[in-house]
Amino acid sequence: MLPEEFLYQLKQSNPITEIMGSYVHLMRAGSLMKCLCPFHSEKSASCTVYPHNNSFYCFGCHAGGDVITFIMQIEGLDYISAVRMLAERAGLQMPQEEQDNGEAKMRLRILELNRAAANYYYKQLTGADKRGLQYLKERSLQPEIIRKYGLGFAGEQWDGLYKAMTALGYTDQELITANLCSRSSRNNTLYDRFRNRVIFPILDLRGSVIAFGGRTIEKDGTPKYLNSSDTPVFHKGRNLFSMNFAKKSQSKRIILAEGYMDVIAIHQAGFENVVASLGTALTPEQCRLIRQYAEEVVISYDSDAAGQNATVKAINLLRAAGIRPYILRMHDAKDPDEYIKKFGAAYFRRLLEESGDAMTYELDRCKGSTDTEGDTITALHKAVSVLAGIENELDREVYLSKVAKEYSIQTEILKAQVNQEIRKKQASRKKQEWRSVTQSAVLRDPVNPAADHYPKEAKAEEQILCYLFRQPDALETVMQQISPEDFPTDLHRRIFEHLAKRLKEGYSFSFSLFSDSFTPAEMGRIIGIQAKYDSIDFSEQSIADCLRILKQKQINVLSASDMNDTDFSAMFEELRRRKN
Ligand code: UTP
Ligand code: MN
Repeated sequence: MLPEEFLYQLKQSNPITEIMGSYVHLMRAGSLMKCLCPFHSEKSASCTVYPHNNSFYCFGCHAGGDVITFIMQIEGLDYISAVRMLAERAGLQMPQEEQDNGEAKMRLRILELNRAAANYYYKQLTGADKRGLQYLKERSLQPEIIRKYGLGFAGEQWDGLYKAMTALGYTDQELITANLCSRSSRNNTLYDRFRNRVIFPILDLRGSVIAFGGRTIEKDGTPKYLNSSDTPVFHKGRNLFSMNFAKKSQSKRIILAEGYMDVIAIHQAGFENVVASLGTALTPEQCRLIRQYAEEVVISYDSDAAGQNATVKAINLLRAAGIRPYILRMHDAKDPDEYIKKFGAAYFRRLLEESGDAMTYELDRCKGSTDTEGDTITALHKAVSVLAGIENELDREVYLSKVAKEYSIQTEILKAQVNQEIRKKQASRKKQEWRSVTQSAVLRDPVNPAADHYPKEAKAEEQILCYLFRQPDALETVMQQISPEDFPTDLHRRIFEHLAKRLKEGYSFSFSLFSDSFTPAEMGRIIGIQAKYDSIDFSEQSIADCLRILKQKQINVLSASDMNDTDFSAMFEELRRRKN
């Protein structure tokens, strides 16, 4: 457990509204805030943020917790990594013992190794084998940009990096963990993963080298690009190539390209606000990362069909993250790198300036060929579907009249079609929501299974817990009347025990008391308990009633002397379960 003082500071410097606000759009609702839940798909905001106790709870999917649980869930991190991320964000020093733990040490070591490897590759570029430098020159990269990106070269040798790194004291295991070397199944020795490739180091936002990409310099070499797979310091879908530079550009716009070379070419042409999603399709995490720095993205993917399909996917992901997408359209070149090489930076700037909003792009894509009436009708049907997807009524109106004009049809007729489509979409969404509700109703409580057998007691437990969350001082009085064994459901008993233990250790109450010992799903439940009774004031009488329900349960089980066999084995089962 981290020291209370530290956790207190951590939460003070990371208010939940600020943290959640960087991932979702928060709307004020009285003294609370609301947002579309980032953990399940929904159209009306059911995720509630409670600024007064730094917690959140979704009434739709029951996700909930404190700021640490939120980061664990949204970033897919374990408890300590989430705390570390928040500490770094707030510029807080992690407590010493945590810095010394094995995993953190190993991560640091891998980062050092990556830095040393990047240096090695960089030196190789100007070594005896000049093929790498020659290749980069042929691709029109200037020495300054090569240096800025720290590009490098891995030559012919099977063990060049291996030898250099082991000489510096790095172990075989570390080289494998960093994904820089592989073990040969033939003779069990290690060999370099990157050979005959120019090397692109991938940096995180703090400038640490977290991974590498390598492009073959051989014609038709495969794979064309080789990338580090995930390592303890690198998770592909969570980083963006060149984000370390783009974030410094202070532009509210980010240019999103497909490849390493596109990014570097665009950067060299004078646009430093450019990034690429590393050899994968764009992910929601990457969109959220962009959202922390920019409001608009110009998608500059390849002009081929694959690039255009990826563009449509990226548009949806960016919108979901609250970013306004624009689309750069390019002719006579397959990608930005080739375009700039052919036409120069000034023309590329013009493309950037002319890039239209994504809606226009999507409507244009509906057109296809409009040679025959049949084609026009198909195109119109597609356009109706796109228009029906526009949430904002005013926006929809604008595009609607534009399409009507373009196809020379009456606005009113088009509007009727679009409205019908909207109703259809709404109906099918309702059906789906209803299905998921009824499905979850028949599902038993997976987080606290015993609650199905003890519905009345579980409710009493919840109220007692909620009462204690609000009035931790009452613990002593409550403890005089019941003990953890009186709680028939596992989860509630654990919460009660944990709370009692921490309060006895002198901690003051906060939901962070729980986040190191309970899973995110359980955290959701804990916050859910407080949310459920939010508007209810507990009278002493009602708490006494709850306590009696739990006590009576206890008496029933223990004092039943005239039980039949079935009851007896049920009690036996119950006692066995409690012991476990
Ligand atoms: P492209 O094949 O479009 O390459 O892949 P490119 O960027 O135009 O490369 P050049 O100009 O021929 O050098 C786009 C991106 O997809 C990933 C890389 O990140 C690449 O930059 N990719 C591509 C891979 O990860 N592996 C591959 O084998 C190919
Ligand atoms: Mn290219």
